[in-house]
Amino acid sequence: MHPTAPIPDPMTTIHRDTDYDTWAWLYNETMGPEYGREQLKFLELVLLPELPQNAAILDLCCGTGQLIQPLIQAGYRVTGLDGSPGMLSYARQNAPQATYLLEDARTFQSVEQFDGAFSTSASLNHIMTLDDLTQVFRNVFQSLRSGGRFTFDLNHPAQMQKWWCNRIVEGEISSRYAWRLKPEYHPDRFEGAFHVTLFEAKPPTSLLGHLSQPVKTLFYNCLSLRRLTGVRLRLLARFEQMQPTWTKSHLTYRVKGHPLPAVQTALQTVGFTDISIQTIDGSTLDANHSAHFICRKP
Ligand SMILES: C[S@@+](CC[C@H](N)C(=O)[O-])C[C@H]1O[C@@H](n2cnc3c(N)ncnc32)[C@H](O)[C@@H]1O
Repeated sequence: MHPTAPIPDPMTTIHRDTDYDTWAWLYNETMGPEYGREQLKFLELVLLPELPQNAAILDLCCGTGQLIQPLIQAGYRVTGLDGSPGMLSYARQNAPQATYLLEDARTFQSVEQFDGAFSTSASLNHIMTLDDLTQVFRNVFQSLRSGGRFTFDLNHPAQMQKWWCNRIVEGEISSRYAWRLKPEYHPDRFEGAFHVTLFEAKPPTSLLGHLSQPVKTLFYNCLSLRRLTGVRLRLLARFEQMQPTWTKSHLTYRVKGHPLPAVQTALQTVGFTDISIQTIDGSTLDANHSAHFICRKP
């Protein structure tokens, strides 16, 4: 059913709090170049103008490498680091000219020195303790040349408290699969989780099943329209009743809502300077936006 099932790299298993291998194919299919466009715009604004031509850049927790290919095309030398062999196998297909490291962000030590580094899509919310996050910052600091820039985004406590309310907030239905996403947050412990439920279609066995397939496909395509988001999410909430024969699997990812002042102190502790926090669209930081940190190695 999957377009190209990821072939795990023949490398040693590493310890990590998250496992993206199971849904790497889905991430690759749904979070394509379109998804990365806003983040690329942000990098073009705050990171790339600070770097030399043909700079060496580290994409920390690069996932399926959607941001890497446009950077390679723009002449940069990019290294993608991720802890998931499944995500990396897609990154290698999406941006074959990059260098890849199967490493844990908390323990990596790069032999290469980079002019800049970034981490997108709140990947660092997966680092569950402030000590570990500080160690990630230290590893990035050591991998940067003097003057090197680092930018990353985080979901923060006020934002998570407002939006992560144990309701289905995103999801998709296609003729082959459906998924829904439900985030939750516990302000007392600054911890949350997002739950991904994945449904996969079985090929129709009856003639009627075959004949009704194009109608279903058309219906599901209509549901992907933005103005039908509410209807789509309501259907997804009871998708197991709608399609009882589809297989269902469930994944939970734990995340930490690190308080922003503590993150700033952690960056200072390892030696970063010129630390600022912005939103992706330049507006004032509030509960509706994630926090984009920008800092520099002196
Ligand atoms: C939400 S995805 C973001 C991927 C990519 N940056 C993007 O913007 O599409 C989070 C990624 O972080 C990786 N990750 C999480 N914890 C990690 C760790 N401790 N070390 C390395 N990678 C990690 C996961 O494997 C996953 O690919």
